[in-house]
Amino acid sequence: MDANVTEKVIALAKRRGFYWQAYEIYGGVGGFYTLGPLGTRLKDNIIRVWRKIFLEPYDFIEIESPTIAPYIVFEASGHVGSFKDAMAECLKCGNKYRADHLLEENGVKVSEATSLDVLEKLLNEKAVRCPDCSGTSWRVSSFLTMFQTNIGPYKENVGFLRPETAQGMFVEFRQLYEINRARMPFGVAQIGKAYRNEISPRQGLIRLREFSQMELELFFNPSDNKCPYLDDVKDIRMNILDEEKVRKGDTVPHDVNAREAVERGFVKEEWLAFMMALSQKFLCRLGIKPEFQRFKAKLEGERAHYSAQTFDHEVLTGKFGWIEVAGHAYRQDYDLKSHAIKSKSSMEVVEELDQPVKVRRRLAYVDPLKVKKDFGQASEIFKHISSLKPCELAELLDREGKIDVNDMVVGKEYFIFKEVEETVSTRKYIPHVIEPSFGIERIIHAVLEHAFHEKGDRVILSLNEEIAPYRYAVFPLVKRDGLDVKAKEIYSILKFRGFTVLYDDDGSIGRRYARADEIGVCKAITVDYQTLEDNTVTVRDRDSWLQKRIKIDEIEKN
Ligand code: ATP
Ligand code: GLY
Repeated sequence: MDANVTEKVIALAKRRGFYWQAYEIYGGVGGFYTLGPLGTRLKDNIIRVWRKIFLEPYDFIEIESPTIAPYIVFEASGHVGSFKDAMAECLKCGNKYRADHLLEENGVKVSEATSLDVLEKLLNEKAVRCPDCSGTSWRVSSFLTMFQTNIGPYKENVGFLRPETAQGMFVEFRQLYEINRARMPFGVAQIGKAYRNEISPRQGLIRLREFSQMELELFFNPSDNKCPYLDDVKDIRMNILDEEKVRKGDTVPHDVNAREAVERGFVKEEWLAFMMALSQKFLCRLGIKPEFQRFKAKLEGERAHYSAQTFDHEVLTGKFGWIEVAGHAYRQDYDLKSHAIKSKSSMEVVEELDQPVKVRRRLAYVDPLKVKKDFGQASEIFKHISSLKPCELAELLDREGKIDVNDMVVGKEYFIFKEVEETVSTRKYIPHVIEPSFGIERIIHAVLEHAFHEKGDRVILSLNEEIAPYRYAVFPLVKRDGLDVKAKEIYSILKFRGFTVLYDDDGSIGRRYARADEIGVCKAITVDYQTLEDNTVTVRDRDSWLQKRIKIDEIEKN
């Protein structure tokens, strides 16, 4: 990819109204962008294609949950503890940067797993210069990248703007499972804003503080983890850099389909491989050729705290190189389990077994004499324990080693454990989750770069019909003699039939074609004097510039 394409796309995006930095009249604020009229159209069209590929064929459902959540949600999800980036502070001017990005920009290879101490040592030893004041002394600390707020007028009522849409789906799991008539596996999607207080965003749409995600949580039974759709995606080939290749620094990817990726051990779960194949299909539909796409495994330590395996779906761009546009993660039962524990709500589902099976069950019973000896009458302890079944008690004690009742800590030694064999015809489990997570703005930027072409001094955005902001442009050759009236009539008919249509009567036809090409209008229809005689128009194709004379009634077939 030509590095200049990136700057050209950014300039075009601003000039023609796809996107630009927000708050420019006040000097702009890093990480905030406004999508203009064409950007919002492109975004809507991208979302429509995503729904067609990820949701509609499988009857997956979609929700819209709040973008602000109380502290406890992100405490349970592990974000309060882990959603942090390493921040390098210049000791000369006080400016702050992402430590790993600063080192990488200076040719020092590190990863998201590199410790704060090592990052600080590297910055100082390599005398990395501060981009603002050229200082070379650094202090590195960790920075929580969630935006914090207060809910209502109470300081103690802390909330966070969500850094991912996912938690809105996990906290509602029980309700969604029941609404969906307790079917498993099932998928829930959410499309909406996410917020991350990025330390020093300097890459346009690639690193925003407020952006839009399209996320899908696929809930499945870990003991029945076959994906029934793998053969449907057998023709989709993917470039995969598995963990071994990433570890070795080998950048030549495996060329495999979803089933091969699982069978050869690159991808742990069929559902994960399936989502990756859909992701590849999705980006191809948006016009990004397979050779500019790859899936790169994240190594342990680089992955988010909840993930047992993650692949970044990357697209090659000019100036920014390979950028992640989607993350595909195997979140296991991490989130549902954490919310179950924190909220004391069940996130289990019941599986009807084909045949009854024998299971060994561990049960726990309290030793009342021992409890009374150490805690006195302790009626609260007995009341709490009697609200749990012996098997639940055993599970809790095995997991946490103790039970907290008000200020009293009752350890495992106050219980007697037994193992029994039972025949059961149902089994409870907490579903596991595969999550594809897309950033829409990054996709918009990538799509524009891949659609951008130049023919001499002319710019063409070869956006696919499905996502182009306008399907047709209608031009009267001149604004008089009834040509404008006829052109407006055709414009209205096409709009009425549900097409996106642009009307332009300003300047020469050549300039109008040029303006339409550079925003990706698929076909330009010109109304001339012959139109008034025989109801035909010329239809010009954006990419080939070929013109055909056709009947007005046949426009839609062309
Ligand atoms: P990166 O490593 O580039 O910071 P990430 O691994 O933190 O990205 P995820 O947490 O996997 O990203 O988020 C899912 C998707 O959301 C990403 O693939 C990306 O498309 C989008 N995204 C994440 N952070 C940003 C951001 N700051 N600006 C724009 N899009 C983002
Ligand atoms: N839901 C994945 C992420 O945004 O981190």
